[in-house]
Amino acid sequence: MIEIRGLSKIYGRNQVPAINNIDLDINDGEILGFAGLNGAGKTTTIRIACGIIFPTGGKVSVDGHDIVKNKVSASKNIGWVPELPNFEPNAKPVLLLKYYAGFYGIKGTEAEDLIEKLMKQFNIWDARNKKLKNYSQGMKKRFSIAAAMLGDPKNYLFDETLNGLDPEGVKSMRNFMLQLKKDGKSVFLSSHILTELENVADRIAIIKRGELIKILDRDELPNLGKSVVKLKIENLDGGAVAILQKYGTPEVTGKDVVLRDLAFKPSEAHIVNNELIKSNYEVSKFEISGEGLEEYFLDLVGQKGGI
Ligand SMILES: Nc1ncnc2c1ncn2[C@@H]1O[C@H](COP(=O)(O)OP(=O)(O)OP(=O)(O)O)[C@@H](O)[C@H]1O
Ligand SMILES: [Mg+2]
Repeated sequence: MIEIRGLSKIYGRNQVPAINNIDLDINDGEILGFAGLNGAGKTTTIRIACGIIFPTGGKVSVDGHDIVKNKVSASKNIGWVPELPNFEPNAKPVLLLKYYAGFYGIKGTEAEDLIEKLMKQFNIWDARNKKLKNYSQGMKKRFSIAAAMLGDPKNYLFDETLNGLDPEGVKSMRNFMLQLKKDGKSVFLSSHILTELENVADRIAIIKRGELIKILDRDELPNLGKSVVKLKIENLDGGAVAILQKYGTPEVTGKDVVLRDLAFKPSEAHIVNNELIKSNYEVSKFEISGEGLEEYFLDLVGQKGGI
């Protein structure tokens, strides 16, 4: 479990904090998504949580160990996959992993067996004889995930780890995270794309310009965004469109209509349906739904239409 309390960071002589008073718990058996735009403060939070940089205020505890005051015990139980993994370019992957394994007291054939298993699991075993400088960005990411697993830590910090993997890599990473969750580990996964977190995260914390502005529960996700009504009208004509225009902005494609900018509460949508039917329109589909998570996210973080 990772507990983040009142965490703040001001870099150098900057006036504006990169993160400000962040409170978050990443519970055992939980995948917590961390969403925010470029520069929002995700990497800063993660780098403090794994002890790479120091906070200006607040603290982080890893299974009860303070990452600053008790760094050795705290970081033993953290697996960190950085945003842009970088390694000694001339290093041979197996030898470097063996070196890392030594930190956890894993040696000899035990280390070799574990490294083979992990490199196979993350699909880089075939590239075991290449130097790391010849690994692609995605392969470096896979290597970094394998390295993070060596000590079988209880907590994981994945900084934009899905980003940069190919579709097969994204799928296996998702399954891997779900397995970690099943095993009772805590997983913190950052992304600047909210929908990337949608399929894995139990909760999603949203950060905007260093401030934690919202925590969403998985159950809330399907209903987020502005409501739209999707209809199909078999005998659609100008008259039907005129009716719909009273209730919002209809967008017509053949017999299908998406009604946006609704002038009524979602619970009153039946009024539209009733009026269409009364005017002899054959409504074969009538659904009300959210406009989409990404749209909602961009509204929330206030950068619709670009950076
Ligand atoms: N070493 C540093 N020195 C000074 N400012 C920094 C440093 N690292 C980050 N910042 C600033 O802190 C803020 C947060 O950056 P951070 O890297 O944490 O964002 P992020 O959410 O990870 O963004 P991205 O999605 O682009 O990775 C930004 O304004 C950034 O310019
Ligand atoms: Mg980042």
